[in-house]
Amino acid sequence: MSKNSSVFVCQSCGFNSAKWLGKCSSCGSWNSFVEEVKTKSSGLKTIADTNKKNPVLLSQIESKNSTRTSTGMSELDRVLGGGVVAGSAVLIGGEPGIGKSTLLLQAAMAYQGKNVLYVSGEESEEQIKLRANRLKEYSDNSGLYIYSESNLNSIIEQASKNPYDLMVIDSIQTLFNPEIESSPGSVSQVRECSYKLIEFCKGRNIPLFLIGHINKEGNIAGPKVLEHLVDTVLQFEGDRNHLYRLVRTLKNRFGNSFEIGVFEMKPDGLNEVQKPGTFFLSGFEQNNNLSGSVITTVLEGNRAFLLEVQALVSSAVYGMPQRVANGFDAKRLNLLLAVLEKKCGFKLGQKDVFMNITGGFRINDPAIDLAVAISVLSSNEDVAVDKSYCLFGEVGLGGEIRGVLGLEQRIKEAYKMGFTKIVIPAPQFKADFIADGLSIIPARDITAVLGEIFG
Ligand SMILES: Nc1ncnc2c1ncn2[C@@H]1O[C@H](COP(=O)(O)OP(=O)(O)OP(=O)(O)O)[C@@H](O)[C@H]1O
Ligand SMILES: [Mg+2]
Repeated sequence: MSKNSSVFVCQSCGFNSAKWLGKCSSCGSWNSFVEEVKTKSSGLKTIADTNKKNPVLLSQIESKNSTRTSTGMSELDRVLGGGVVAGSAVLIGGEPGIGKSTLLLQAAMAYQGKNVLYVSGEESEEQIKLRANRLKEYSDNSGLYIYSESNLNSIIEQASKNPYDLMVIDSIQTLFNPEIESSPGSVSQVRECSYKLIEFCKGRNIPLFLIGHINKEGNIAGPKVLEHLVDTVLQFEGDRNHLYRLVRTLKNRFGNSFEIGVFEMKPDGLNEVQKPGTFFLSGFEQNNNLSGSVITTVLEGNRAFLLEVQALVSSAVYGMPQRVANGFDAKRLNLLLAVLEKKCGFKLGQKDVFMNITGGFRINDPAIDLAVAISVLSSNEDVAVDKSYCLFGEVGLGGEIRGVLGLEQRIKEAYKMGFTKIVIPAPQFKADFIADGLSIIPARDITAVLGEIFG
C-alpha cells in the first residue's frame, strides 16, 4: 500500500491538488503550489494502535493540580496562563531576528533544576554557547543540553534516552523526516515533524516549545493545521527600531488568550517588564507642551498601561489630503475625522492628518478613540492639552462617548502615574471614585470633552 505518488501542495494553506495550479482554489494565494512526494502518513496509524483505552466517566477522572511549572520567567508564565502545563505543546512565532531563540534559550536557562533539551536546526552548538554567554547573567541551568540536529528521527532517539523535563525546537521549519521526500519547511514536513514530536512529548508528559517562522503576511509559515495541533500559540512581536518586545497569546487551551508579556531587548538578553505603567511614555515629560499630544490608557490582557497618541494636522499642499495612521486603523481615523467634522464643525476635509502611537505600538482597543480625536483637534487648533489629563472612551458615530472595559483599572493606573484629571465615559461614572487630588470628569459627548479641555 505504500506506493508513492506526487501531489501538489499549497504552501500557504496545505490544500492538495493532483496537478499544479497557479492560484489556490482554497485560500486564493498565487504561485504557492510545490510538488511533494506523497507517502502514507504514519501518524494516524499510531493513534489507532496506541489508543486502546476505554471511555472514562468524567466524574471518575482524577485531576492533578500541580501540573503547571514556572518557567522561571514570570512574563512568559503569564502568557502561558501561569506556567507550562505538563505535556503541552506551545508554538512561538515571530519575524526573523526579533529574538525568538534568545527568549527560549533564556527560558531554558532559567528552568532551574530541570533537564532541558534545546534542539537547534539553525545554529551550531558553538553559536548557541556564544548566545548563552551573552545571557549568562540570567541564570545557568546545569541540566541544559544543546543538540544541533535537524533529523527528526535522531532527535526523537536522543530525547528518549534521557528523562527530559522540557524540550525546545528551534525551529520547526528546519526539521525533516527522512521518510518524506519533500524539503524541510514544506507543508508535509512541518506537519509530520510537529505531529511526531507532539505525540512523543504528550506520551511522556514533557512540555514542548516549537519556534515557528512567520511568512510575509505575518502568519506562521506552513499550514494552519500546525496551529490546530498545538495547545498554545504565542506571537512574538515588536518593532526592530524600538527596544520593547511583546509576547501575545493567540490561542491557549489552558488559560486566558488575551494576555501579553512585555520584554525589553538589552545587549545581555530580554529583560522582563513586569509593570509596564509608563514604559511606553519615554520622552513625554520633555515635550509635554506640544500640541497634538494626548495620553490615554490601553488595556491588554489583565494589565492597563499608558500610551501617548500624537497627531499632526496641516493644510494639504496637493489636491488630495493625506491620512496616515501609525499603529492605529486608518479607516477608524477617517471615521473619527468625519465625526469631528459633522458633530463639532471642524473643517478637516482639506487638511493632511498624520497620527502616531509612540513606541511603535499597534492598538486595537476602541477606548483609544477619544485620545485620537482630541489629539487631532489639539494639533488643528495648535493648543496643547494640559499634561495632567488622561482620556479614554470609545467615540460613537453621533459623537457620543461609549463605555470601555476595565474602567477602574485604567483609572487606577493613570492616577498611580500622576495623572489627576481623568476623562471617562459618562455612562460609567460612579460617585465613588475618590482619591487625593483626583478629579474624574464624566464626558457624554465629544463637544463636552472639548469644553473641558480647551475651555
Ligand atoms: N551582541 C548583541 N548585543 C545586543 N543585542 C543583540 C546581540 N546579539 C543579538 N542581539 C539581539 O538579538 C536579536 C536576535 O535574536 P535571535 O537570534 O534570538 O532572533 P530569532 O528570532 O531567533 O531570529 P531568527 O528568526 O533568525 O532565528 C537581534 O535582533 C538583536 O536585537
Ligand atoms: Mg533563531
